[in-house]
Amino acid sequence: MQYIMKGGNPLVGDVLISGAKNAALGILAAAVMTDDTVIIDNLPDVQDINVMLSALEEIGVSVERPDRHVVKLNGSNIHTVRVDNEYIRQMRAGYYLVGALLGKYRHAEVALPGGCNIGQRPIDLHLKGFNSLHAKAGIEHGMVVADATELRGSHVYMDVVSVGATINVMLAAALAHGDTFIENAAREPHVVDVANMLNSMGANIRGAGTETIRIRGVERLHGTDYSIIPDQIEAGTFMFAAAVTRGDVTVKNIIPKHMEAICSKLKDMGCEIVEDDDTIRVVSRPRLISCNVRTSPYPGFPTDMQPQIGVAMCLAEGSGIINESIFENRFKYLDELTKMGADAKAKGMTAFIRGVERLTGAEVNALDLRAGAALVLAGLAADGITTVNNIHYILRGYENFDEKLRGLGAVIEIVKDPKESRKFRLRVS
Ligand code: EPZ
Repeated sequence: MQYIMKGGNPLVGDVLISGAKNAALGILAAAVMTDDTVIIDNLPDVQDINVMLSALEEIGVSVERPDRHVVKLNGSNIHTVRVDNEYIRQMRAGYYLVGALLGKYRHAEVALPGGCNIGQRPIDLHLKGFNSLHAKAGIEHGMVVADATELRGSHVYMDVVSVGATINVMLAAALAHGDTFIENAAREPHVVDVANMLNSMGANIRGAGTETIRIRGVERLHGTDYSIIPDQIEAGTFMFAAAVTRGDVTVKNIIPKHMEAICSKLKDMGCEIVEDDDTIRVVSRPRLISCNVRTSPYPGFPTDMQPQIGVAMCLAEGSGIINESIFENRFKYLDELTKMGADAKAKGMTAFIRGVERLTGAEVNALDLRAGAALVLAGLAADGITTVNNIHYILRGYENFDEKLRGLGAVIEIVKDPKESRKFRLRVS
């Protein structure tokens, strides 16, 4: 499967943003920590979520999907704490089941996480966190294994700010004895959302969204009905889609507060930003202005938006530098962009980008989720036809990406074979 698109149309209109994938993954794990029923709303219908749901079903969780954005879970019949299948091995967030099952059953065995190839992605901080709670956690035969006779609250200092480790320790600590303090915790909106969801199940978590989170362990968690926050990165991707196509797009159903770093960069690049209660409108200009950017944990500029701003810089007036401070392997998309005429190169964790007046369509490869989405943005801004291969990466995290883009006037389709691709070319030529 490929995305095929004809670039050059400014994207114009409104787009409804889905629930946050990375919050949802933590929330689904949290949901099985009770034997009561949990209903989750605003669930994004994307591949990673569907993989997580089937992993839950395999261990005995009852999963009902009354609507594609609603799921009803019941974890009272979990018959094994061993989670392993070929799909869970390909995603990152399967590791949240270690925290959740360790908290609930004091034992968990989960296949080592895979995920996008954007760097080394160790899990030492997760293990350190569980061990601080007096569990014995380690890696055995390709599985993360954690075991505890008693889970006891403790101080956990994160040497590196880690979203995954913060959420994972929070999950386990919610059902530990006593107080846990996570210092140097990640402050991302999805960390706060998972904490809010756990609190709605009866957990006692304070300080999520700050550097210190205090979790007072409770005996048991109960059922809840919870709605996931909107996806900050999906919203940011559409905002940059407006910017690079010289468009005028309003992202709807968002939390503007979560978008501050992204709005600030769009303003630096010359876009007009109009904020309302739960919408942001981005009005682009004939030529963007380049900027410098450094990715950092929230509230900094998200690493998950780095490829999208990279595309904008490729088309902007002037030169700019990107410092990627989170993942060491997140610039490979620049080689793909050079096939489209971009003038960009990376050295280590720094990229140097000189803007060009226009990009031209080419066949390019998605190398991970966000880089893949960024190449679609480049294709929509470029002259002529672009095809993006390996779109399974993009489908992991963007719901109806092509359909939402078509709603804004993009000429883009998913094609399955050369015949469909030829048909598209004939139609648009
Ligand atoms: C989450 O990954 C997201 N994934 C990523 O989004 C996102 O890029 C990342 O956070 C940063 O915001 C999910 O939520 C499923 P980290 P995560 O632990 O939790 C180092 C997407 O496209 N580290 O915050 O794996 C690590 O190497 C994905 O949706 C350790 O050293 O990221 C990195 O440099 C891609 N030891 C830094 O911390 C550890 O044990 C931050 O990683 C864990 C992490």
